[in-house]
Amino acid sequence: MSVSPNPGLSALIVGCWQLDDRSWKAIPEANLERAIDTYLALGITTFDTADIYGRSEQVLGRLLKGRDSIVLTKAVFFEGVPTPNQVRSKIENSLRNLQRDRLDYVQIHWHNPQLDFSATFAQLNDLIEQGKITKLGVTNFNTPMLEKALQCAPICVHQLQYSLVDRRVENLMQPFCLKQGIEILSYGPLSGGFLSENYLGVTSPQSATDHARSFFYSTMIHAHGGWPPVADLLETLAQVAQKYGKTIAQVALNWVKQQAGVRSVISGLTLDRQHIQHNVDAFTWNLNAEDIKLLSERSSTLFQQTGDIYSYER
Ligand SMILES: NC(=O)c1ccc[n+]([C@@H]2O[C@H](COP(=O)([O-])OP(=O)(O)OC[C@H]3O[C@@H](n4cnc5c(N)ncnc54)[C@H](OP(=O)(O)O)[C@@H]3O)[C@@H](O)[C@H]2O)c1
Repeated sequence: MSVSPNPGLSALIVGCWQLDDRSWKAIPEANLERAIDTYLALGITTFDTADIYGRSEQVLGRLLKGRDSIVLTKAVFFEGVPTPNQVRSKIENSLRNLQRDRLDYVQIHWHNPQLDFSATFAQLNDLIEQGKITKLGVTNFNTPMLEKALQCAPICVHQLQYSLVDRRVENLMQPFCLKQGIEILSYGPLSGGFLSENYLGVTSPQSATDHARSFFYSTMIHAHGGWPPVADLLETLAQVAQKYGKTIAQVALNWVKQQAGVRSVISGLTLDRQHIQHNVDAFTWNLNAEDIKLLSERSSTLFQQTGDIYSYER
């Protein structure tokens, strides 16, 4: 068995987009602290955030100060090619927010594939040499972009959406990552919470008030055939869950964690203590091969998976 280039990451990574009170519900910091304490007490030490997730980096900086943890952040380049000053100040800003001397992981989101990112990656390499960044990753890169990025810098992880509903990764990216030894960090394993008991038997979900679920994941579900196939998948998940005495969310997480090349599964922070415990437990056992196959085949029958990573989001 090959040795992971990312040994410290926990199998479950806590997604901290949920700390962005502009995109999700506004959560008081005391409640966030309680939830983070619970994750840490259960052995989950890795957190995912981004420079564009509002207060998320700053809150994590305060709550994780002096605690044994790994933080993955993102540097998001939406417009144009950044100047060297812009790149440096982005990294300095994340260092200040997270109250660290060195960023454990920086994952690059590069929005426009038409723009050449090689100079930016060369600068990120310099920041590694200067000790400001330990490891580099990317997020939402399509396959040609990742091929090119690898010529510019060492890429250890690729963060991308992967769930029983969205399996576009399997078209090109997963085999490519396996070949290159790049580990996959999968986000959206519960399709933002839709793959859970909360939505079993629901014929048409109400538009959620916490709008990331409604806009980000509803858009994805729409692109993959709409709600009816998700409702059908939930029935199959419920049957498998019952067989193991587990929940739908646990089965959905377990399916992702067992896919080839997946190093860790990123699931968004929840305040619900029982959900936290269930999510952590989902990484302590395995669906058997027959049930993995059953779920994969059901998903293949229900959803079309066209395009490469990030093919319709840009
Ligand atoms: N790179 C990117 O472009 C990108 C894009 C999206 C996300 N991400 C990252 O990935 C992280 C994870 O993605 P995600 O949070 O959107 O997806 P997710 O894990 O599919 O969904 C998380 C949501 O599901 C609900 N949930 C969690 N555990 C549950 C359980 N056991 N039963 C029922 N519901 C449960 C929670 O909502 P409630 O408890 O509030 O119902 C939580 O907010 C984000 O926080 C972010 O760090 C990255």
